[in-house]
Amino acid sequence: MGDVLRVGIIGGGLMGREAASAFGRWFVLENFPVKVELVAVCDLQDRLLDWFRQIPSVRLLTKDHRELLRHPDVDVVYVAVPHNLHEALYLDVLAAGKDLLAEKPFGIDLGAARRIRDASAASGRFVRCSSEFPFLPGVQRVVQAARSGRFGKLLEIRSCFWHASDLDPSKPVNWKRQVKTCGEIGVMGDLGMHVVHVPFRLGWNPVRVYAQLQKIHTERPDGKGGMAPCDTWDNAMLHTEVLVDGREVPMRLETKRMAPGATNTWWVEVLGTDGGARYSTAEPKTLWQFERGKEQSWNRVDLGFQTPFPTITGGIFEPGFPDCFLQMWAAYAAERAGVLGDRFGCVTPDEAVRSHELFAAALKSHEIKAAVAL
Ligand SMILES: NC(=O)c1ccc[n+]([C@@H]2O[C@H](COP(=O)([O-])OP(=O)(O)OC[C@H]3O[C@@H](n4cnc5c(N)ncnc54)[C@H](O)[C@@H]3O)[C@@H](O)[C@H]2O)c1
Repeated sequence: MGDVLRVGIIGGGLMGREAASAFGRWFVLENFPVKVELVAVCDLQDRLLDWFRQIPSVRLLTKDHRELLRHPDVDVVYVAVPHNLHEALYLDVLAAGKDLLAEKPFGIDLGAARRIRDASAASGRFVRCSSEFPFLPGVQRVVQAARSGRFGKLLEIRSCFWHASDLDPSKPVNWKRQVKTCGEIGVMGDLGMHVVHVPFRLGWNPVRVYAQLQKIHTERPDGKGGMAPCDTWDNAMLHTEVLVDGREVPMRLETKRMAPGATNTWWVEVLGTDGGARYSTAEPKTLWQFERGKEQSWNRVDLGFQTPFPTITGGIFEPGFPDCFLQMWAAYAAERAGVLGDRFGCVTPDEAVRSHELFAAALKSHEIKAAVAL
C-alpha cells in the first residue's frame, strides 16, 4: 500500500477543489504516517481543469474518467459528481481496482446504494463515503460525552443540517434542484448523510420514521432568461425513534434548504436525565453542556483546535470547514493504512445503505401520511 496516498479526482467542481485544498496543506498534520499526492484530475470543464494546473504533482488532466482510472499512479479515487452519475462512476473505479472515497449520498437511490455497497464488498477495495462535520472538535466532544453514559437516560436527540440560500426565489436552478440529477430524495440526498453519520456511529438506528417533506419554490430561473422546474424536496423533517438501552428515544433529523438565516449550519443536541450536550457550526468554538447537579445548569465551553489528528495549528485557534474536511481525509488515509485506532472513521458503505433505507422509508411515510417501520 505504501505510505503515500496517490489520489485521482473525478469531478473538480466545488468539492473536487476542496479536496485539492486539503491535500495542499497536508503537511499541517503532525507525525501523520501517510503522505498524500494529487496525481490526476478529471472534469468535463476546461476552466476547472485549468485551475488544477497550478498543482505541481498533477500529471494528468483529462475529460475521460476512464483515462484517469487507467493511470498506474492512482491508488485512490475521490469522486464528486452529480448524484445520477455516482453508481456508474463508483462501479468503474472499483472495476479498475482502485480504492474509493465516494461523495454522498452514495448513489441516487436505495437500489444504487445497495449495488455500490455489494460491488465494494466483492472488490475488496477500501471504500468510504464523505461526511466531514463529525471531525470538528465540538462534535467529537458531543460524541465522547454521549459514549461516556453520563447523560443518564436519554430524553431526545436532534441532528440537523440547515441551509438558507434557497429562500431566494431568484437563485438559479442547478443539478441539485432537479430529481433527474439529484434524486427523488432531494434535500435528504444533499444533506442527509451529514445528519445520520454521528447517530448511526453511536448505534442510534431509527426503528420507525414519520416524515414531513416540503417542496416550496417549484421553479427557478434557468440562467438563460426562462424558468426551469425545481422538483426536489426542499425541507425534510424526519421524526424517528431509536432504541437506546432497550427504550425508545425520539430522534429528529432535519435537512433543510430553507431554514431562515442558516448559511451552512450543522448542529447536534443530545439530552438526557443527568446531562446533555449541544454543538452548532454557527458558533464553531462553543460547546454547550447540560449538568444536573444540585442545581441544573447549561455550561459554555470555549473550545480550541483539539482535532482527532493533531496539527501544527495553535491549540487556541478556531476550526472551520476546510479543517474538518482535511481531518476527514486524514481519517480515510489512517483507516486505509490500518492506523485509525479508536478515532472516528468515515461513513462505511453499510452506513450509507442504511441512510438510503431511512430516506426511502421517509418518502413512503410522506406519501401515506403515517409512520413507516424500518
Ligand atoms: N461533503 C460535502 O460537504 C459536500 C458538499 C457539497 C456537495 N457534496 C457532494 O459532492 C458531489 C459533487 O457536488 P459539488 O457541489 O462538488 O458539485 P459541482 O457541480 O460543483 O461539481 C461537480 C463536477 O462534476 C463534473 N462532472 C460532471 N460529469 C462528469 C463526468 N462524467 N466526469 C467528470 N466530471 C464530471 C462537473 O463538470 C462539475 O465540475 C455530490 O455528490 C454532492 O452531493 C458534498
